[in-house]
Amino acid sequence: MEELRLDSLDGVGPVTTKKLTDAGIHNIMDLVVRGPVEVAEITGMDKETAEKIVNKARQQLVEEGLIAKDFVSATEIYKRRQDIGKISTGTNCLDLLFDGGIETQALTEVYGEFGSGKTQFCHTMCVNVQKTKEEGGQEGGVLYIDTENTFRPERIVSIAKANGMDPEKVLDRIIVARAYNSAHQILILEEAGPIIKENNIKLIVTDSAAGLFRAEYLGRGTLSERQQRLNKFLHLLVRTAETYNCAAIATNQVMSSPDVFFGDPTRPIGGNIVAHTSTYRVYFKKSGKKRIARMVDSPHHPEQEVIFTLTEAGVSDPEEETKKKKKEESE
Ligand code: GTP
Ligand code: MG
Repeated sequence: MEELRLDSLDGVGPVTTKKLTDAGIHNIMDLVVRGPVEVAEITGMDKETAEKIVNKARQQLVEEGLIAKDFVSATEIYKRRQDIGKISTGTNCLDLLFDGGIETQALTEVYGEFGSGKTQFCHTMCVNVQKTKEEGGQEGGVLYIDTENTFRPERIVSIAKANGMDPEKVLDRIIVARAYNSAHQILILEEAGPIIKENNIKLIVTDSAAGLFRAEYLGRGTLSERQQRLNKFLHLLVRTAETYNCAAIATNQVMSSPDVFFGDPTRPIGGNIVAHTSTYRVYFKKSGKKRIARMVDSPHHPEQEVIFTLTEAGVSDPEEETKKKKKEESE
């Protein structure tokens, strides 16, 4: 294409053109794709010059309407954000914490020590997502990536019954994928697209997200590799949630005392690397028979704590537990 010729750019003469062409950059689209850092590296020109040339190239592409696609996709992103839905937790306390429920197009990370209720929360959300929108659900199915063999259909049955739902129908809408190693865990998600579409999946659970990575990559030497692989998975999870307008939950077990790998327990899974706007972090903590949930560094939620309990109905409001006890006592 004539208009994409390198020498159509101001300041790009025959010498620069030859340098760029030798480096495999044949037109101004190539320039924009490679970016100034790489252009400077492969041509030996100084960084400032490379930046100028790439900026001009981008400007020209915009003027010619060739990279208008970026702007369209921004509009698409905006439109898409209007579609964000919420899935109620079925409790007043946790809905307060989540401002109505967990969001679609977002990853909600739940971390906490063993027995803090992470898996129970996942099971409860598997039922709640199936409720009608009026009831706080998304009328959707679930993809449950089970890495620790802790998915229990019996728990689904009892939570469904407690919600007055048909347990068989509820079970039918949950697709369980057992991940045997971290590579398999990534593969399951990479191949999940058609399954998500066909089954109108509105919730993807990964319980736990970090466990297999932690088990396989032992020792300090492999720490950064583990983190990279885990981040790959989490990024894919966020992208999948955004693309299919699903909610995603990823759990992570941390020690109650600061964990060696994760450092400060309030800095879970990917640490700073997975600082994505569509990620919410919730910390679950045991406190006797009760549980405490704390929202951690969310841009959209106030940092607050709520108290919840675990019952046969899944995650529950503490007062309901008290009410039930009182009822039992009076009977
Ligand atoms: P790890 O996976 O070990 O890190 O723990 P977790 O955070 O996933 O804990 P999980 O969600 O499995 O919580 C286990 C706790 O839930 C148990 O200790 C019980 O207190 C509670 N729980 C599980 N099922 C029931 C139930 O049917 N009734 C009641 N009342 N509590 C339950
Ligand atoms: Mg668990």
